[in-house]
Amino acid sequence: MDAAQTDLTEATISAALADRGVALRPFRCLNETQSTNDDALSWLAEATDAVDGAFVVADLQTKGRGRLGRTWVTTPGGALTLTYLMRPQVEQLARVGMLGALSVCETIRHGAGAHVRCGIKWPNDVQINGRKVCGVLPEAAWDGSRLRGVALGIGLNVRLDFAGTAQEQTAVSLEPALGLPIDRADLLARLIERLDYWRAQIASTDLFDTWRAHLNMIGERVSVSEAAGVVNGVAEAVEPSGALLLRLDDGSVQRVIAGDIALG
Ligand code: BTN
Repeated sequence: MDAAQTDLTEATISAALADRGVALRPFRCLNETQSTNDDALSWLAEATDAVDGAFVVADLQTKGRGRLGRTWVTTPGGALTLTYLMRPQVEQLARVGMLGALSVCETIRHGAGAHVRCGIKWPNDVQINGRKVCGVLPEAAWDGSRLRGVALGIGLNVRLDFAGTAQEQTAVSLEPALGLPIDRADLLARLIERLDYWRAQIASTDLFDTWRAHLNMIGERVSVSEAAGVVNGVAEAVEPSGALLLRLDDGSVQRVIAGDIALG
């Protein structure tokens, strides 16, 4: 990950994939777009070369989306924003976000990040030393009741500066965290390698077990903000569906499907 920095172009990406021994596949590289998830969803609808493992990457998104209706804002060259296309089975849908977060975590750990504490905050935020470095947004496309495919959006902070912003205490970028310059084409190739690996294992218990082993707050007292409000309890376990099981103070267990979790 400490190669000389290059721009993200079709040529640098193809070269990085070849250098890392990652299979070449259709991909789209854009200087600027609204959202790579939108591009990927349109591509899936065209159904020409939108194969499993194809991806869209952009230097800048002008309408990046986050989870729970939030926006995802980056600066030119500041992040790795990509969407990986998949055509999984319907029953594998819950695994898509898991494989995204796990692949990012392993990309960081297998690279120069062995010395940093990299884990997953439920459901699929990747954190370094407790600060968010990456968010994952899987979005499914349907033809009636038939699953057409999934756009697995990944936003990885590379050199965004959070000083003086509302995220100053909660977010981090990879370069300052690792103390190294990051070449985004090389980082992308490493990440695609991990995504391909876990894509091939999507139905395995290994994917769920490894994702669970990377979760940060299991066994801790947490508060979870969900649509209905805030609930407090102990994050006791996760189900293979990805749901969080929260032990409330009255001893009952609440199953949480979507929300934001925080310690304490
Ligand atoms: C989150 O809220 O944590 C998820 C953020 C996901 C952002 C990525 S950037 C690439 C892709 N395109 C989007 O519009 N969003 C995702």
